[in-house]
Amino acid sequence: MNILGIETSCDETAAAIVKDGREVLSNVVVSQIDIHAATGGVIPEVAARSHIEAINAVVNQAVEPVGWADIDAIAVTTHPGLIGSLMVGSLAARTLAITHDRTLYAIDHILAHIYAAQLGQQDDYEFPLLALVVSGGHTSLILMHSHKNYEVLGQTRDDAVGEAFDKVAKILGLPYPGGPSVAEAARAGQSTISLPIAKLENPYDFSFSGLKTAVLRAAQKLAGVGLDTPSADLAAKLTEQQKTDLAASFQATAIETLAQKLHKAAEKYHPKQIIVAGGVASSEALRAAVHQTFPNATFPAPEFSTDNAAMVAARAYYESEFTKPADPYDVTLTPN
Ligand code: KG4
Ligand code: ZN
Repeated sequence: MNILGIETSCDETAAAIVKDGREVLSNVVVSQIDIHAATGGVIPEVAARSHIEAINAVVNQAVEPVGWADIDAIAVTTHPGLIGSLMVGSLAARTLAITHDRTLYAIDHILAHIYAAQLGQQDDYEFPLLALVVSGGHTSLILMHSHKNYEVLGQTRDDAVGEAFDKVAKILGLPYPGGPSVAEAARAGQSTISLPIAKLENPYDFSFSGLKTAVLRAAQKLAGVGLDTPSADLAAKLTEQQKTDLAASFQATAIETLAQKLHKAAEKYHPKQIIVAGGVASSEALRAAVHQTFPNATFPAPEFSTDNAAMVAARAYYESEFTKPADPYDVTLTPN
């Protein structure tokens, strides 16, 4: 079964065709990173407008190598995400489902990230499956008993881990998106600054807001300025060494937090497969930390770690076995 996936939940306009949940026949992603780099983060109205400008061309380019005659169904991300962004992709998908008379599936973006792991692979998913989804919008530990039955063991109470990378990058005067730029700075630094790991009632929940504030306080202390100094003024007052050490210390603590919780959940639930997915899964430091304990843990290929539509089409393939298709005239969006 060939499914056309459409993804516009945040700042990537994407469409892809995936055969039987794993074989990628086409994959088009237009990123808005350059636009959002200028403002240091995603402005929702700007994201929605950019999706409108890109969506037709992106869908046409993804459909072209396969053709409508060989597309069996359409899948679109309907939750969670930025409401204006979700509206653009879902309206496009609904229109296409109606005009081409195809079945439509409404897909959860966080679950979709998990299905990026086996794109282009032969092996099947093994259950119980423990997934850590780490991105700019989400940090979730999910235990899947089957494609149908799953439970969210924990999630972030405040900032997502990728968001913390982005905010720390801002404090250190590093470019958006923060993940890759903090990773690069961290390579030149030493993890010498002690930062806290939040203790939460649910051991599988996450909290990164305190860690981000601890980086801010440490930066203010190193710069020798007061607590009322705005974060935007700090980078100019820090030496290169101080910045790279802060980046290394933050990255080490964030990754230690993720690895600890994954480990705790694995000890309790004895998964047959572990998947780490989402934009932050492209972190080499995270890969190394996870592989130390779980050498067989699966990470998506880099192009499928960040937002894409192939993962949406892949999840829809498995979901089509047990989910009722969406009514293209009545699709509910659930934003963040
Ligand atoms: O999955 P994604 O493309 O979008 C969302 O669904 O949010 O993830 C983007 C996030 C950004 O916060 C970015 O800073 C982070 O992934 N990221 C990284 C790395 N590459 C991207 N975080 C840490 N290390 C990286 N190498
Ligand atoms: Zn995502």
